[in-house]
Amino acid sequence: MCGIVGAVAQRDVAEILVEGLRRLEYRGYDSAGLAVVDAEHQLNRLRRLGKVQILADALDAQPVLGGTGIAHTRWATHGEPSEENAHPHMSGENIAVVHNGIIENHEPLREILTQRGYVFTSQTDTEVIAHLVHWELEQGGSLLDAFQRTVAQLHGAYGTVVMDRRDPERLIAARSGSPLVIGLGIGENFLASDQLALLNVTRRFLFLEEGDIAEITRRAVDIFDVEGNAVERTIHESTAEHDAADKGKYRHYMQKETFEQPSAIINTLEGRIDANSVLVESLGHGAKEILQKAEHIQIIACGTSYNAGMVARYWFESIAGVSCDVEIASEFRYRNFVTRPNSVLITLSQSGETADTLAALRLAKERGFMAAMTVCNVAGSSLVRESDIAIMTRAGTEIGVASTKAFTTQLTALLMMVTALGKEKGTVSAEKEAEIVKSLHRLPAQIEQALTFDKQIEALAEDFADKHHALFLGRGEFYPIAMEASLKLKEISYIHAEAYAAGELKHGPLALIDADMPVIVIAPNNELLEKLKSNIEEVRARGGQLYVFADESAGFQESDGMTIIPMPHVDEVCAPIFYTVPMQLLSYHVALIKGTDVDQPRNLAKAVTVE
Ligand code: AGP
Ligand code: GLU
Repeated sequence: MCGIVGAVAQRDVAEILVEGLRRLEYRGYDSAGLAVVDAEHQLNRLRRLGKVQILADALDAQPVLGGTGIAHTRWATHGEPSEENAHPHMSGENIAVVHNGIIENHEPLREILTQRGYVFTSQTDTEVIAHLVHWELEQGGSLLDAFQRTVAQLHGAYGTVVMDRRDPERLIAARSGSPLVIGLGIGENFLASDQLALLNVTRRFLFLEEGDIAEITRRAVDIFDVEGNAVERTIHESTAEHDAADKGKYRHYMQKETFEQPSAIINTLEGRIDANSVLVESLGHGAKEILQKAEHIQIIACGTSYNAGMVARYWFESIAGVSCDVEIASEFRYRNFVTRPNSVLITLSQSGETADTLAALRLAKERGFMAAMTVCNVAGSSLVRESDIAIMTRAGTEIGVASTKAFTTQLTALLMMVTALGKEKGTVSAEKEAEIVKSLHRLPAQIEQALTFDKQIEALAEDFADKHHALFLGRGEFYPIAMEASLKLKEISYIHAEAYAAGELKHGPLALIDADMPVIVIAPNNELLEKLKSNIEEVRARGGQLYVFADESAGFQESDGMTIIPMPHVDEVCAPIFYTVPMQLLSYHVALIKGTDVDQPRNLAKAVTVE
């Protein structure tokens, strides 16, 4: 879930490891640690509860020298966050291990190892790996042999790396469900759970595939597949931004990423639309044929990406006339679902590594979907590699845990896909296509305009700081925008928020309305406006505090208990993307007033690579 960094070099690597951990902090963590071996076979381990900076400070006070090392930021799954549960874990004085993910059969293994005389010093599942490697080494063979035999005994989804003090120029790593990349240097090699961690030392990467085990020394990287056969993996030259992990003039990554949305959307659109049409081929090799044959769309995603899928469902059906279902990945993968004929699976994911989404994709491939497409933000990620077609959102690295530009670029990519599908199916005329495409061309400037409401929304946020609950309402494709708005608010301000389709209000939630319940309404001027106005009246009649983000042409009047935030009129088709922005600003400013950790909200991680 969290971060792994490793290095085999001639120079001291502790600084490189800590810098790597810093760059992985966005994935979530509760403690951090490293172990480094020097040429004299001295192993030094340092672990700290809390942020990477605390580990960095400890390292300043107590420098650790040596050219081979492993480091980890932990997001606890087994055992509380504490120094003794922090990684690396050791067996005796020689074997050190870091691990991301979960070892599902850790209990029986712990029992066997205890019977063999091993004494456990942590509550983690990880520690069984260290003792197993130790045990297998005692049975004979090299560290690689022992590690291969160890991995064969582990069940679960994980990435793990082992180091032996007596063999100080070697790391062995395994990938089984959690991503691991190897960074190639000159006379030195590295590994990490995300290439971002290593961009300051290399741009050349190998991506391990499922079941791969890699042996890494200064001069060589040898990779073995699940059967133990030596395999070659292609070297990729990374084009990721070097300074993505830099906040620049912004106070938080979330703020920076919110303000980057106009340029992020320009990047998403680039080369994919001309003046009047979507260039279907630009969606990927074979996309045209897949869209022509598609009779059903099944979208699978989690969290914010799921909300994007919910918006797209309205578009797929109303614009392209193709039926579309959307499901949360963790439900879909354990449900006995029926695959519709000629159904295209579309996964949506910022990270491309979300465990449930990835598992759903793998399952769907076995269950007769016509094709698997992904809309994803991370090149080289598992979803991208395992899908037939990957449409990259090109939002640039998103570091804030609360997803912002990944969502609006997903919507932008999906709208292009819907238009292309309608075009192939003959349900979108050339005029309609031109109208949507023109609207997409106008979108970045309109998002820019939405961002100018920052100060006004900052002032409004004061009203929310002492609230414990909030309700978001929308209709049609603005219902999922309300869902996304409520997710943002709860994630970063810890205010309990719910989203309702406004028409559902009288079926229950109306009972919650009183003066302490702010109700935020998304009110564009569309065909559902009159219906929405009736819902607003229902809230007003019961003394609710309304905040209506309304199209300036929608004819709302401010009155007691009803604050109107007039929004410029925007094209209907892109309006859901536009209205997302004031919602992001609102949750950001409420979180600022509440003083929460905006970029790393409690209990959450950026990439959820465990179930
Ligand atoms: C978004 O603000 C959340 N932190 C979370 O819901 C996220 O969208 C979800 O975990 C899915 O991640 P993915 O897009 O990387 O698959
Ligand atoms: N399951 C391991 C633990 O709790 C690793 C968790 C992680 O991915 O950080 O320590």
